[in-house]
Amino acid sequence: MKKKLFITRKFPPHIVEPLKEFYDIKQWEEEEIVIPREKLLAAVADCEALWVTLADQVDEELLVHAPHLKLVTNLAVGFNNIDIKALRKRGIMATNTPGVLTNTTADFVMGLLLATARRIPESDRYLREGKWKSWYPMQLVGKDVSGSTIGIIGMGRIGQAVARRAKGFDMKILYNNRRRRHEAEEMYGFQYVSLEDLLKQSDFVVIMTPFNDDTVGLIGAEELALMKDDAVLINASRGGIIDENALYETLKSGKLWAAGLDVFEQEPITLDHPLLTLPNVVALPHIGSASLQTRTAMLMLNVKALTAYGQGQTPSNRID
Ligand code: DGY
Repeated sequence: MKKKLFITRKFPPHIVEPLKEFYDIKQWEEEEIVIPREKLLAAVADCEALWVTLADQVDEELLVHAPHLKLVTNLAVGFNNIDIKALRKRGIMATNTPGVLTNTTADFVMGLLLATARRIPESDRYLREGKWKSWYPMQLVGKDVSGSTIGIIGMGRIGQAVARRAKGFDMKILYNNRRRRHEAEEMYGFQYVSLEDLLKQSDFVVIMTPFNDDTVGLIGAEELALMKDDAVLINASRGGIIDENALYETLKSGKLWAAGLDVFEQEPITLDHPLLTLPNVVALPHIGSASLQTRTAMLMLNVKALTAYGQGQTPSNRID
């Protein structure tokens, strides 16, 4: 008898197809709309494997509804949507997608940093709205990236890839991380500093740390107050790491040059969110890893894990 797999989103059929050899598959048939919670809870009742996106919460409540569940595979490297402790208690495995999105996300972070510093989205709006009447010296002037100081909070795989790119812009690289990265320090000249020093000294503060109990609200009013008056804050990790109200108040008061945000406390962010009223906020819909190649590679990593489990093997990329 085939194992039962539930997929919480419509994924490309050619990617799902090979799994039919091992699984009896049911799937939420919408590509853009998140499966309503009550439908998800009903759908997991008989499934042994569950393939989710970062928009689905796999928590105690869901597990109670999924007595046969043995494997959860997550279409993301971040796994704050999964209660790993609750899974572990029940002997359920989880897998994610590390490695394949490192370069794509790091490229994107540099893009967001440049777009924010140099006011690129704002300038595009300015032109389309017919505001471009002439060229003048202080028109849409931005902030230089080359030669400035970047402070990276969270020096994992993606943080290091951002740092290597920043070197190409002759940036001085400061970082803060749970563990020192001695090898990277020696190889690339990254400099480890306390969070306080990083905030005080950086022209660009880039958040690359995972979202968990230690990092929730890590950047609040006090931390923002430590930053340089014309610093730029970039977040392409998870929304809850920054206190959005504090960020809004700080930007509104005229402190900070700008913020570039690809992630929000609540996603999608509502259009009446105060941050969206500020011209110096670049706001994007969580697209850090969104290249065709990388999203395909992420899906294929999940397929690999599901295939291994379907064949009775231990899946790779297990979250421990
Ligand atoms: C992740 O993988 O955690 C990203 O946020 C989405 O690619």
